[in-house]
Amino acid sequence: MILRGGKPLIGEVSLRGAKNALPKIMVAALLTNEKCTLRNVARIVDVTIVSDLIRALGGEVQELEDGVLEICAANLRPMERGTLKEFSGKSRIPILTCGPLLARFGAAPVPSLGGCRIGTRPVDFHIRALQDLGATLEDSAHDAHLRCERLLGTKIRLDYPSVGATEQVILAAVCAEGVTELSNAAMEPEIMDLIMVLQKMGSIISVDVDRVITIVGVRKLHGFDHTALPDRLEAASWACAAIATQGRIFVRNAKQFHMMTFLNRYRQIGGEYRVTNEGIEFWRAEEKLRSTALETDVHPGFTTDYQQPFVIALTQAEGISIVHETVYEQRFGYVDALNRMGAKIQLYRECLGGLKCRFGQRNYRHSAVIVGPTPLRGAEIEIPDLRAGFSYVIAALAAQGDSTLTNTGLIERGYENLVPKLCALGAEILE
Ligand code: EPU
Repeated sequence: MILRGGKPLIGEVSLRGAKNALPKIMVAALLTNEKCTLRNVARIVDVTIVSDLIRALGGEVQELEDGVLEICAANLRPMERGTLKEFSGKSRIPILTCGPLLARFGAAPVPSLGGCRIGTRPVDFHIRALQDLGATLEDSAHDAHLRCERLLGTKIRLDYPSVGATEQVILAAVCAEGVTELSNAAMEPEIMDLIMVLQKMGSIISVDVDRVITIVGVRKLHGFDHTALPDRLEAASWACAAIATQGRIFVRNAKQFHMMTFLNRYRQIGGEYRVTNEGIEFWRAEEKLRSTALETDVHPGFTTDYQQPFVIALTQAEGISIVHETVYEQRFGYVDALNRMGAKIQLYRECLGGLKCRFGQRNYRHSAVIVGPTPLRGAEIEIPDLRAGFSYVIAALAAQGDSTLTNTGLIERGYENLVPKLCALGAEILE
């Protein structure tokens, strides 16, 4: 993609279902033989991968109309070695099929995982939780399998409020015998959406404010009809694009409730927004943005997926900003290319923030000091991961001159219709 920068992005974009909710809701459909209808489905690569995975497992996925999928797992079969091999490495979703496959067949292979390369991203919490629920792990030189007669409810405490491990426990425990109490759980809006789906299916799940989720296992789950929540991470990405390019973007379907932490920070650095029933409009309130110091955290903290687009905006802020990344140890890999574009960002191994995080003593460059404002200039950049990819697009559009971005396919994993949306906002795409 060749982008010409220097023009504000002005206009409207529309959101559909969240990338970090849709695939998990699709996995929930594997827990029943009944038909499930999922609405507000975005055309993104991660949805395609999970559709293909469900079909490879004998399930049916049909697009009834644009944005509406019908999933039926009545003829589901156990995961074969070939299927596992085909989908391992493509995304992080296959690991979440372990619970449903254990519930239905008493066996589930453990896939190796793909997804963005932003840290080591192990799955130890997932496996340990499934073992706590009664599954046994058979680990050979070629593969690893989980097996069980029936999962049994238990008390599980996560070492860290991992999104995926929380979803893993919920998806496994809904069909377990007895009650499961999960503490130190993640509470992201996308997880709440998954819980709402499971409640529609017949499960009994309660959420306490102190990160405790209690799941009462049931024998049988039904189909669902659900409209997925909109993608707050995409909304925040466009919001950052608006202030970085000095534009004004109305994000249709963006929901204030899901984004309150982001909106507070946005206003603090000089962004402004107007919330309506239809969405949120974003723009720069003052000519100069203000610097800030922040730490990424699990929800309701400042979500790590907001970090990269926000840093692009901070390169245009007056003064010194500090961003301490506490969720992933290697989520600043994209900074070198930004510095080549003229940004002044230095990375540190120390925890530069109030919170001492898990990475402080482990030699990871996980704190960033951003000196601004720095005019950006066009560059040639290879995209390393999804959020960094979108952030480079913003940086390229805020820069003077042309930028060439390669590996743009990665952005399509999570951003629907990127090019048409950019064109609608007046971006100059030369190729
Ligand atoms: N972790 C472990 N062991 C585990 C699981 C997680 O140590 O078994 C650690 C991770 O290494 C990481 C932290 O816990 O340091 C949090 O990871 P988490 O499990 O929450 O991440 P995830 O479920 O793999 C999802 C999103 C990510 C998002 C994170 C955090 C999906 C498909 N992915 O990943 O989204 O950053 O939660 O909110 O839902 C993105 O959208 O760009 C993206 C990377």
